Amino acid sequence: MLKLAPSILAADFKNLGQQVADVSLAGAQYIHLDVMDGAFVPSISFGMPVISSLRSCTDRVFDVHMMVEDPGRYISDIKAAGADLICVHAEACIHLDRTVNQIKEAGLKVGVALNPATPLSVLDCILPELDMVLIMSVNPGFGGQKFIPYTLNKIRDLRNICKERGLDTDIQVDGGVTCDNVRELIDAGANVFVAGSAVFKGDAVANTRDFLKIFEEYEG
Ligand code: DX5
Ligand code: ZN
Repeated sequence: MLKLAPSILAADFKNLGQQVADVSLAGAQYIHLDVMDGAFVPSISFGMPVISSLRSCTDRVFDVHMMVEDPGRYISDIKAAGADLICVHAEACIHLDRTVNQIKEAGLKVGVALNPATPLSVLDCILPELDMVLIMSVNPGFGGQKFIPYTLNKIRDLRNICKERGLDTDIQVDGGVTCDNVRELIDAGANVFVAGSAVFKGDAVANTRDFLKIFEEYEG
């Protein structure tokens, strides 16, 4: 199933609750929450208090993208804040297996994110354990960047690897996703689409519907 995950990083922060409720009512299946620590990525975004205060605004899947060094330190706090799915960066975890299992043992869905230049081979051993792989299509840290074209091949390669191994792992793509390039991403094999600027810059409800209309073309 094709799913839209609006990233609140591009939302109007003084109306955050309303914006999350709006895109949820418009049909977005996930809410993508970008946690940045100023160490793994240059920027600092928001953390547990913001996530937990948004929890009452929507029943959608809270998809927490941890751009944080050693994210295992925060799994129980992020769970308590209301996460349904936690995605950690392979580059930020020395003990990736331990962190992945910590998330699973907490009863949450688990994803692993790869920066654009990180090869898929780092997932060889852990892939069957994952609910989702996040292919970063920009260098993480900021919204509003341009899609890096070579990441399309990574999505295609990963979908083929999953098929060969009999896995129906979700493939999420994050960074520079728009209504203009989402068809190519679907064709390549991605099925969860993060969109910050393309949803929240302008009319978030109309933009959400535009994405969902494209998904319907594929799903009937
Ligand atoms: C970037 C974040 C993204 C960001 C995407 O580091 O992980 O989720 O909000 O923003 P857009 O869709 O504007 O590229
Ligand atoms: Zn993200």
